[in-house]
Amino acid sequence: MTGRLNGKVAIISGGANGMGAAEVAMFAKEGAKVCVLDVREDLAQPVLDRVGREGGTAIFERVDVSNEDDWVRAISKTTQKFGRLDILVNNAGIGARDYDFESVDDWNHVMKINMTSVFIGTKLAVKEMRRVGKGSIVNIASIASLSGDAVNNPVYGVSKGAVWNYTKQCAAMYGKDNIRVNSVHPGFMPRMLQKDNKPVVPSEVAFKDKMEQIPLGRIGTVDEVAYGVVFLASDEASYITGTELVIDGGFLVL
Ligand SMILES: NC(=O)c1ccc[n+]([C@@H]2O[C@H](COP(=O)([O-])OP(=O)(O)OC[C@H]3O[C@@H](n4cnc5c(N)ncnc54)[C@H](O)[C@@H]3O)[C@@H](O)[C@H]2O)c1
Repeated sequence: MTGRLNGKVAIISGGANGMGAAEVAMFAKEGAKVCVLDVREDLAQPVLDRVGREGGTAIFERVDVSNEDDWVRAISKTTQKFGRLDILVNNAGIGARDYDFESVDDWNHVMKINMTSVFIGTKLAVKEMRRVGKGSIVNIASIASLSGDAVNNPVYGVSKGAVWNYTKQCAAMYGKDNIRVNSVHPGFMPRMLQKDNKPVVPSEVAFKDKMEQIPLGRIGTVDEVAYGVVFLASDEASYITGTELVIDGGFLVL
């Protein structure tokens, strides 16, 4: 452990898989006590086991991030167990490729999980952070927040664009409470879980045609995103709020 998050208590949503799982492991290694929120307890257990093996502390709460009651229960359990809340990482999210481009129900479903969840988690976490006197919130958005895409379902980019702007609204609103709010925008990464547990095509295959548009010539790794999240969550970023950290191998530059 190197201790960049020593003494801090963090909630990480969607921490059972992918980038969230990498963030849980890295936060715990850096000394934070972590509460993992996810709908997939089966995937969370190996993440908790890894943290335990590495000498860290993490617990799990089954939460659907679009459900406010779930959030209330999970935040209360976290503060009962660890005494405070310093950091919230709003990482849980779903891809929209498998949803109907023209269905209002599908549109609302994706918005609820990718965006409304961030609003719910943030407003509840802020109450606890005010008690501490400071806090850091990191919202996992996407390069899709900042660009258009002719192939993907537009609701994905819209939901992530809203997360980007909501981050700025919150940075403005909560600065007086010494609560910092920033967004992280990953580019092409290992692929997200698919709707109805459909098999995931590896990113190297799915994004083959994108490779030459990435200056660094490869997809990113989950740890490369987690490093950025740890930085923004930590006191090293004490004068950074309302900013976006793009982690995309340079994709948006071209
Ligand atoms: N993978 C990429 O290429 C990529 C790129 C840019 C941004 N992102 C964003 O990064 C975040 C993490 O992506 P990932 O690739 O690690 O995804 P992932 O699918 O591997 O993991 C997402 C986690 O969120 C959980 N989750 C999904 N819906 C939930 C809900 N309603 N309530 C609670 N938990 C829920 C899943 O069970 C899973 O554990 C997402 O917000 C995603 O939109 C991903």
